[in-house]
Amino acid sequence: MSDRATHPIRYARLGYACLQVTSLEVSTAFYVDTVGLQRNASPPGQTWLRCSDKPYDVILIEGETAGLAAVGFELESLDELTRAFDHVTALGFKPQYREPDSCRTMNVAAGFTFANPQTGLTVDFYAEQSICSEPFEPTVTNIARLGHVVLNCESYADAHRFWVEQLGFAISDHVPGRIAFLRAWPNALHHSFALLEGPTSGLNHVNFMVTDIDDIGQAMNRMKKADVPIVFGPGRHLPSTSIFLYFLDPDGMTAEYSFGMEEIAETDGRGPRELEPKPEVLDTWGSLPDPRFGKQGKIVSSHV
Ligand SMILES: [Fe+2]
Repeated sequence: MSDRATHPIRYARLGYACLQVTSLEVSTAFYVDTVGLQRNASPPGQTWLRCSDKPYDVILIEGETAGLAAVGFELESLDELTRAFDHVTALGFKPQYREPDSCRTMNVAAGFTFANPQTGLTVDFYAEQSICSEPFEPTVTNIARLGHVVLNCESYADAHRFWVEQLGFAISDHVPGRIAFLRAWPNALHHSFALLEGPTSGLNHVNFMVTDIDDIGQAMNRMKKADVPIVFGPGRHLPSTSIFLYFLDPDGMTAEYSFGMEEIAETDGRGPRELEPKPEVLDTWGSLPDPRFGKQGKIVSSHV
């Protein structure tokens, strides 16, 4: 059952995160060799990395500061995209449809972008993205998918209004005023996106879901061997029940592997739960994040 009042947009999935890095060469090598993404043919100035049958799950671009340049969501259909365009226009966000050339480049039938008016983050909605002829081949670890993107929010109230009330993401669990784990409704995954209060607006982390708990343990040793800072975990998140490991990319931006996640059905699924603001919410095994966790990554305005 579709609840248009609460969820005006029907999402298919989190599509991609576009990260600005200070060295394409260094970060490409890191995300391919150490994280396990697969490099795909890319337009000039970009590195397309994939961990699915889609042409890109992470796009790297180069710039002076490291940060999050865009977040993309695939919608259920072209009809949904049109409906979303009208909805976003009515909200006053001035969306821009991609030109046909840009759609071809991005391998989508249609799409549009607009900016979050408070933070400037580019949001990219598209439909009917083509899939690659070759399957994704896992290498150093078994990545199932790009799992989620988490934002630090200078104004939690503004972020909540934009993502939940205006764009219709569904709260799975939250600490009101501080943390929200959001489903790209009606996608069943407990969260494809999340909001954390403060201190400045930017990237908290990008997550890759893995298919086996061994991937988490092996990643810990692989990161240690490569001198990659581990900044939280291994541990288990209370809300989603996932087992996690967080580490830093070459620019100090935080990335995560996680194993396991609750799924909440579109109909008759449970409602949002309110969580107590205590450390066990983040890790039931009792570890605490390193001060570098979730700190690096401004919102940058470069476009793809
Ligand atoms: Fe996460």
